[in-house]
Amino acid sequence: MDQLKSPLIDSFDRHHNYLRISLTERCNLRCSYCMPVDGVQLSPAEHLMNASEIFSIAKTFVKFGVTKIRLTGGEPLVRKDFQRILELLSTLDVELSLTSNAVSIDRHFQQLKKARVKTINISLDTLNAERFHDITFRNYFNRVYQNIFKLIEEGFIVKINAVLMRGVNEDEILDFIAFTKDQPVAFRFIEFMPFDGNQWKREKTVSYQEIMEKVQSAYSTDQIIRLQDAPNDTSKNYAIKGHKGTFAIISTVTNPFCDQCNRIRLTANGKLKNCLFSQKENDLLTALRNKEDLEPIIRQNINKKFEIRSGMRSPELFEDLKHHQQNRSMITIGG
Ligand code: 5AD
Ligand code: SF4
Repeated sequence: MDQLKSPLIDSFDRHHNYLRISLTERCNLRCSYCMPVDGVQLSPAEHLMNASEIFSIAKTFVKFGVTKIRLTGGEPLVRKDFQRILELLSTLDVELSLTSNAVSIDRHFQQLKKARVKTINISLDTLNAERFHDITFRNYFNRVYQNIFKLIEEGFIVKINAVLMRGVNEDEILDFIAFTKDQPVAFRFIEFMPFDGNQWKREKTVSYQEIMEKVQSAYSTDQIIRLQDAPNDTSKNYAIKGHKGTFAIISTVTNPFCDQCNRIRLTANGKLKNCLFSQKENDLLTALRNKEDLEPIIRQNINKKFEIRSGMRSPELFEDLKHHQQNRSMITIGG
């Protein structure tokens, strides 16, 4: 084991111990909030990190105190060498987790267990097959739905991410909560966020308050339990008394949680982003290939991290779409 170096602390005293690695810009779904309608210009294969480069960069971060790594995409499972990447990363002393759309996750249960992956975040924005097609442009609802039950059966801790969009799925909030009655899953309502090409409009977001009002219309105050949030948690967690599962609200737009942020992101083409909304990136992959020292690049990236949403402090700035056009689309950042 390499010697631990001083941790990655930014100028607001936030410790960065959580690295999210996007493995690919490809996906087998086409969620409109993530993938621009006209698709994205994919990076040429030689510009993407290969398995050993991912391992090498991840190892560097572990030296700087990273204790948690999440694999994202696009859809991480569409990478042909997913198993190899998982095997390599599982040798590191970190908590490994995965965000997936679950279309093909049943083929990977054994590998995931072997790599000690315990918690899996699944993206599912509706419990209705037809609507699933409207949102994702693919007919995989039944596969995804069945796979969620299989994941539970296999003993994984399952979190389900639903991006709420007005006029699309906000009428399902109570159905999602009803799903937690018999299923031990954490349903997480995520506010629709603006990224390049995703047709975001403020009116389409569904706020924390609105979600809670819906919940309160169906359950009495003593049935709604506020749970303790984990440290650095981006969500406010709740449960309905007697339900096996829980629900949570993640409101980046109306209620940013940047003061606790411990995350850094590595895109599939090896660029470091200190925030989901950052427009500046540092190219770690080229540096690695040129055998440069990654430490100063990483530290400089962290030092430049803004206090809130990459400098978009006020709702007005956040709503100005020109800020997002200089950012990537979500599919090329990694959820
Ligand atoms: N707004 C909010 N969340 C998003 N995701 C992707 N695009 C957006 C967006 N525009 C999240 C979803 C998905 C994960 C991969 O990324 O929660 O589960
Ligand atoms: Fe694919 Fe996830 Fe983006 Fe949907 S949100 S297109 S499943 S990466």
